[in-house]
Amino acid sequence: MPDALVASDATRVFPLELDRRYPVVVKGEGAWVEDSTGKRYLDAMSGGSMAATLGHGRRDIIAAAADQAAHLSYVHNERLTNPVRERLAAELVEVAPPGVTRVRFVTGGAEANEMAIQMARSYHVERGDPKRWQVISPAQAYHGPTMATLGLTGRPGLQRPFGPYLPAHRHIPPSTWRFDPSGEAALEALDAVLEDVGAQNVSAYFCEPITAAALPAYSPPAKFWQGLAERRDRHGFLICYDEVVTGIGRAGHWFAAEKLPLVPDIIATAKGLGAGYAAIGAVLCQDHVYQAFANGSRKFTLGHTWDGAPLSCAVGLKVLDVLRDERLIERVRERGPRLRDQLAQALNDVPLVHEVRGHGYLLGVEYVDPRDGKSFLPPDLGVARRVDLSAMDLGLIVYSTMPTRDGFAGDQTLFAPPFTTPDDDLDEMVARFARTIRAVARSIEGEL
Ligand SMILES: Cc1ncc(COP(=O)(O)O)c(C=O)c1O
Repeated sequence: MPDALVASDATRVFPLELDRRYPVVVKGEGAWVEDSTGKRYLDAMSGGSMAATLGHGRRDIIAAAADQAAHLSYVHNERLTNPVRERLAAELVEVAPPGVTRVRFVTGGAEANEMAIQMARSYHVERGDPKRWQVISPAQAYHGPTMATLGLTGRPGLQRPFGPYLPAHRHIPPSTWRFDPSGEAALEALDAVLEDVGAQNVSAYFCEPITAAALPAYSPPAKFWQGLAERRDRHGFLICYDEVVTGIGRAGHWFAAEKLPLVPDIIATAKGLGAGYAAIGAVLCQDHVYQAFANGSRKFTLGHTWDGAPLSCAVGLKVLDVLRDERLIERVRERGPRLRDQLAQALNDVPLVHEVRGHGYLLGVEYVDPRDGKSFLPPDLGVARRVDLSAMDLGLIVYSTMPTRDGFAGDQTLFAPPFTTPDDDLDEMVARFARTIRAVARSIEGEL
């Protein structure tokens, strides 16, 4: 097996980037993965996508999956149900925010968000209000690569060349320190959109309660959430949270919704539910959403082949057991702020770093132009890419995002380790990351 693949000449896989060298990862244990040359990497990104929240190589989860597969791996959800699907739904309702009573399973994050859009739209139709279809969402976000979820972001760099296929949803700017620290401008933008499209046509406001890759570990100020709740009451749209990343413990709570001053009507979640051991996601809704269907057509029919399959639900159940038995969400809640402080401390004399943000084990590092300490870095420098490649050289996996053409965000890095990472591995992640950033800061000095 080759050391690292360069797509065009060494593989039959159609990769994301044809010129990137991809380490061939052959095994994982805890917070470490190893490539085919024997090089080991500390996984500060939970499998690269924040999914592997419990680390690699968990024999107990593998055993639960094997046991379920031996009894019943698969039946379709449309005409049949199964005990593990029923139990997982019940357990999710137990840990979900107050008022959540129903769960629909899917197989991933984008599917969960698509299902949430459909659920919100159908809710209004069921209630005899079929003109409501429009969704409003913050522009600086990521909700998935399908057409409906791409339409939820307002990032032209991601959407091109699929514009002609995307629904005409509307977007508002993020209320970040740079543009709108109080959240007031975002509320004004929301009001302007509500007025423009007609609030009576709006189905839902859709957002990440704490943003992942698009603005790592950012959440709008309390004033924005309060204003959003008021507008929901006034205008009758629903609020959907994309908790694909933040759900199931990542931010130190079962759901990030627990810590915000409003209760969403619909929650989409995915990654941490399968913890990298199964492809599973879920859409959870408040009872009043479910009652619209119960008192209406009594149907919400569209679904996918693998939704609620016994094998993936058995993994989901074991994941919840492990989280409870090992008190891992408490660990993330308590240890997260210290991890953020460790990162901030390790980077505090690097002018390239503007800020280290954190909610539990969802941490973000934002970079600025060191010449003035506030501007975006020149995009041609490719700082995000340099960070990821330098980290990889040093045996560390992080995930950085590139500046986008909408001008709402610059280069930044996500840092999201497995919840099970021992303290000495966390310390080593911080040390390797600090070395990475210093190396990148030095490398751009002569190019600024
Ligand atoms: C916040 C958020 N929503 C949705 C998605 C899409 O999830 P999936 O890749 O499972 O479709 C992602 C993936 O990274 C995400 O970070």
